[in-house]
Amino acid sequence: MVLKKLTNEKDLKLCVVMVGLPARGKSFISQKIVRYLSWLSINCKCFNVGNYRRVLGIDNPKYGFFDFDNLSSYDIRENALKLAFEDMLSWFDDAIDNKVAIIDATNSTRERRNWIIKNCEKNNVHPMFLESWCDDPETIMANVKDIAITSPDYDGMDEKSAEDDFMKRIENYQNVYSTLNTTDDKDITFVKLINISHEIIINKIQTYLQSRIVFYVMNIRIKPKCIWLSRHGESIYNVEQKIGGDSSLSERGLKYASKLKSLIKENVKNNEQDLSVWTSTLTRTKETAQYLPYSKLEWKALDELDAGVCDGMTYEEIEEIYPEDFKARDEDKYEYRYRGGESYRDVVIRLEPVIMELERQENVLIITHQAVLRCIYAYFMNVPKEESPWVSIPLHTLIKLEPRAYGTKVTRIKANIPAVSTYKEKGTSHVGESSSAKGSHNLLVNAPEIN
Ligand code: F6P
Repeated sequence: MVLKKLTNEKDLKLCVVMVGLPARGKSFISQKIVRYLSWLSINCKCFNVGNYRRVLGIDNPKYGFFDFDNLSSYDIRENALKLAFEDMLSWFDDAIDNKVAIIDATNSTRERRNWIIKNCEKNNVHPMFLESWCDDPETIMANVKDIAITSPDYDGMDEKSAEDDFMKRIENYQNVYSTLNTTDDKDITFVKLINISHEIIINKIQTYLQSRIVFYVMNIRIKPKCIWLSRHGESIYNVEQKIGGDSSLSERGLKYASKLKSLIKENVKNNEQDLSVWTSTLTRTKETAQYLPYSKLEWKALDELDAGVCDGMTYEEIEEIYPEDFKARDEDKYEYRYRGGESYRDVVIRLEPVIMELERQENVLIITHQAVLRCIYAYFMNVPKEESPWVSIPLHTLIKLEPRAYGTKVTRIKANIPAVSTYKEKGTSHVGESSSAKGSHNLLVNAPEIN
């Protein structure tokens, strides 16, 4: 099959078609792409075929259901794909900005993939195949164990029986699986990840959006790690209720800096000992990191949101001198750009390389600023962009994020050192922690659907 040549990227509707045996991390990768693109304001939605099979009434199938010689179950599985595909088409029709859909299924036969190509073409959707090929027993077993516990297919079954059944399900797929290759599939757009990032084959990538997705998946690692987030300690500007600037820490801020090392030590697990510390280039973050015995890196991209002409003012002064701007920012805080400064959207764009590097790294502690931390937190916790500028990230609180296959676990650790609040509630110019501050994207969020 040959794919149509793309001419106009602006109108492109892209369908990322996952390929691979069960337990190869396809759902994990799909969910990460959704989170990454949504964070960049590119509308993206995942259609998980396993969920459509459950809608068709097959809730707890045993491995025999996935035997390709079992014609009646084969029909049900094909119908589940068709339902997912139809829903995807209606989602594309719902809004012009709905740009990227993901069909999350094994799509392990060439016959199935050809059906998808044909139907994408009929509907002006461009398919891009993304295969996760993996023969690393450790990775596969970790995924099998995870799925045995979390998949609704195994609700009510003991863990060991679920694992055995799932291994037999994999064998059924192995009998018919044809992997993508540059001979048989030379004319289609595909990326093949071999053992996650050990080797990557890229074929016929045609557009900027496709290459962005490729670049992102190339950076994904699956080894468990921890991301620690902290604002700098309370600064002199914080005490004076001024925004921006480059002031030093207050006395209480310095206390937080001295306590940070023990706060981490008390909450670290053995495998998290090795930590790198990233700060911004501003004095208050560097002072906060000064007692930490880890390697340190300064990033200009981690500097606080630039408040332009308002830098150094209090919110009250801004309301008085620039009343229209003050109101406009409250109305659309994500998009509002300070005169001569930045918006939250601008910060997200400059943070993209930081996020990419975070994906590649192991344990990292980021010491930065309120607005920047909101953007990083929103990426990991899947916070909608309109809500992200209102997330509560108090001073003197360490946040521990543990990204896992099926969500991110968050723990907030208070240092118990008093500090002013810098949280400004919508509609006022006063600072003070709000009861409605959105900090409760807790526990495991962005849990994906499982095949
Ligand atoms: O007040 C501390 C601070 O980091 C300022 O320097 C910055 O302008 C502000 O927070 C960002 O928060 P918001 O977007 O809520 O004004």
